[in-house]
Amino acid sequence: MTLRADTHPPDMRADYTFDFDPAQYTAQEHATWKFLADRQNPLLRNRACKEYLQALDKLNIVTGAGGIPDIRRVSDMLEKTTKWKIVAVPGLIPGSVFLEHLSKRQFPVTWWIRGEDQIDYLKEPDIFHDLFGHVPLLSNPIFADYMQQFGLGAMKARGLKSTKLITRLYWFTVEFGLIKTEDGLRIFGSGIVSSAKESVYALDSTVPNRIEFDLIRMMRTNYRYDDLQRSYFVIDSFEQLFEQTRPDFTDYYSQVKALPELGESELLPTDRIITRGDGN
Ligand SMILES: [Fe+2]
Repeated sequence: MTLRADTHPPDMRADYTFDFDPAQYTAQEHATWKFLADRQNPLLRNRACKEYLQALDKLNIVTGAGGIPDIRRVSDMLEKTTKWKIVAVPGLIPGSVFLEHLSKRQFPVTWWIRGEDQIDYLKEPDIFHDLFGHVPLLSNPIFADYMQQFGLGAMKARGLKSTKLITRLYWFTVEFGLIKTEDGLRIFGSGIVSSAKESVYALDSTVPNRIEFDLIRMMRTNYRYDDLQRSYFVIDSFEQLFEQTRPDFTDYYSQVKALPELGESELLPTDRIITRGDGN
């Protein structure tokens, strides 16, 4: 059977996973991966944080077997390191199902890869975004625990009608987070490391704000889902991220809901600003 994007495989389980056979990738699809990975790999060497880069190498994600890596191999390696697994899914899955996977230390990876017409911009995540962008940091013990903690917290947020607020935490950390290092700011967000344009823009552009991590402030902030970000939040370390998001969020949600929402490029007098954007 040959699968194409947006089709649901007949053997898909209730949790949207299925046993994907990577033998069905075409030479063109492998070439697309190689193009994207070979472009990002050198670009990220002095831009992404060392934890991401070391994992990218250790898991052999750039070259795989000459193209798209076999997620079963990567999953086995990950399981031995942090007890996370990769599961194949057919595309975007319902939020509740996604969170349940995270809570069980399972990361859903979409099997399909973008076509040439979408090489630089995608509306929905493909395997390059999911596997190249998200999976490496799951081999970092603290980040791995953070992702599970997020999954559990976000499941709880649904009952508290606060999904929008905790989704912003995911957006500004897991997808678009920056981190301080002794070499300066570095990228760890998956949405950035999987984008050639944003890998440069996030660190070098004078347009966006770069603001120190502040959980309540972050959960008030709107974001762009279809363009380069206007504000990035910067963590000190993965330990800080894990520790500051460890408490129960119920009170935090009440605080955030009592405050006005903030625009994507808005700054507050109380912000600890690292760089003030000039594009606002
Ligand atoms: Fe993502």
